[in-house]
Order: sequence, then structure tokens, then C-alpha cells
Amino acid sequence: TKILFNDSIIERKKLIDIEDRGYQFGDGIYEVIGVYDGVFFMLDEHLQRLERSAKELQISLPYPISKLKKYLMELVHVNNLKEGVVYLQVTRGEAERWHYFPSSDTKPILVAYTKLEETLRKEEDHGATAVLTEDIRWLRCDIKTLNLLPNVLAKQKAVENNAVEAIFYRGDIITEASASNVFIVKNKEVYTHPANNYILNGITRRKVLSICKELGIKVNEQTFKVKDLLDADEVFITATKLDIVPIVKVDQQVIGFGTPGKTTREIVEAFRGSIL
Ligand code: PDD
Repeated sequence: TKILFNDSIIERKKLIDIEDRGYQFGDGIYEVIGVYDGVFFMLDEHLQRLERSAKELQISLPYPISKLKKYLMELVHVNNLKEGVVYLQVTRGEAERWHYFPSSDTKPILVAYTKLEETLRKEEDHGATAVLTEDIRWLRCDIKTLNLLPNVLAKQKAVENNAVEAIFYRGDIITEASASNVFIVKNKEVYTHPANNYILNGITRRKVLSICKELGIKVNEQTFKVKDLLDADEVFITATKLDIVPIVKVDQQVIGFGTPGKTTREIVEAFRGSIL
């Protein structure tokens, strides 16, 4: 398959230097963008978030977002990707290893490639299990950086417990999960952590918020506690390509009736409809 490397679409090969700052420091940002039936899902929103992440870390993108958008569409086209994602990352570039920013003539390095990926239909229909784990991340979780060690450790814990996700708590507040946002339903109202520095403001999260609005479901962008999660009528998680997965068990606690709840199913239906 082909990849986007800075401003050219080329054959995939080994080309990253050992002193790329992404490789040495995790000094970079990324996006994972869903592709359904060959079409990007909310591409503009992803690119705007990339732009914001870059700005927060003072990384200058190599060229305008409008140009990047054209390259990404071309990449999906040449690779003939139907169902999957485009992974895109930008690092601060290659420079002699010093912690401080390299000189201003150092060029950022942008890479994007396509990846086949199916949606989790089975989990979406039947629900899945999650584990709880402490949120040990830094206090800028709103930036989509390459520094993912706490997320990696959390997801590994989930996998070792046959769970799809690890849900983070900071103190007694539920923030999000290792690679997705978390929602609960209580008395037909939806609750999710507000979009601040403690979570990544997911693109799927935003879509779910607008779907709830359309469906007349009340959403509270409010913090809630571990206890509220375990006592919730319904729990679900959202992320690119994972879409919406109902969580029917957290650690050993069964959520609601142990099957995907009515409100969640309604939102899943509307989400599927919005993709077609
Ligand atoms: N992760 N929170 C975290 C910590 C995430 O890493 C992600 C996405 C989300 C959901 O965001 P979105 O709906 O925009 O995908 C929330 C991607 C998929 C990943 O790292 O692979």
C-alpha cells in the first residue's frame, strides 16, 4: 500500500530517522479518521482538532489543512480503502537530541497511512465488558499527542481481563477510557464528562451529543463518579470506528439488566443511519 510522507504519496518503506522527535520524545500529534464505504467520516472536524493540537504544542503543520485534506482523499483513493481508518501523525521533526525545541528551520514530519478495520458489530449489538483503572495521565488530555503510555498500560489491563476497554477514574470522577469517551444513562438522561483538559473531546462524542439533541434525549456534560457509573441504567463508549459500544459489565458489576439499554440502542440506530 501507499503512504503519505510529507507532501508525496509513495510506497510504504522504512524512512523515519532515529532522531525523529516523535520516536525519541513522543513529541508529536495524531488523528485516527474513520472511513466508511470509501468516504471519510467528519474529516473536517478531525483536521480542525489536529490543527488545535499542533497549536497547543507549538508544532507548525507543514502545509495548510486544505492541502492535507486533498492528500488524504487521494491516499484513500489510491489504496482503494473501503472500511477502515486513516492514521495521521505529525512530529516536531528530526534534530539532534536535546529536550528543548530544535531550531526553527527543523521541518515537522507528517505521515499518513490507511488501515483496514471493521466496526465492532458484535459488541455493538450485544454489549461488552470494561475494567476500571486509575487515570495516571498528564493534565492536558485534550491534546491528541503521541504520548500514550498510560493508555497503552490501561488497554493492556483490559485485554488481560477479556474486556474491550479500561475506563479511567481520577479521584472518584470518571474521565474517559483508554481510547474512547464514556457515557452513562440514568433515568433516560445521558451524562458525559465535560470537554475540558481531563479528556479528549472525541469526534464520535460530538456526533453522539448532536444525535441526542435530535432525538430529544437530555444530555448533561457533567462529571459523574465511579459509583454513578456502577449504578447507571446504561453505559456506553464512543470512538472512531469503534463507534458506539454498550458496556454491560464493569469489573464484576453488571450494568442495568446486563444487556444494551433502550437509550443506547436508540443512539446506535441513529448513528448507523448518519453514516449511510
Ligand atoms: N482514540 N479519548 C481518547 C483518549 C482517545 O484516544 C480517543 C480516540 C477518543 C475518542 O475520540 P474520537 O471519537 O475522535 O476517535 C477519546 C483513537 C481512535 C486512537 O487512539 O486509536
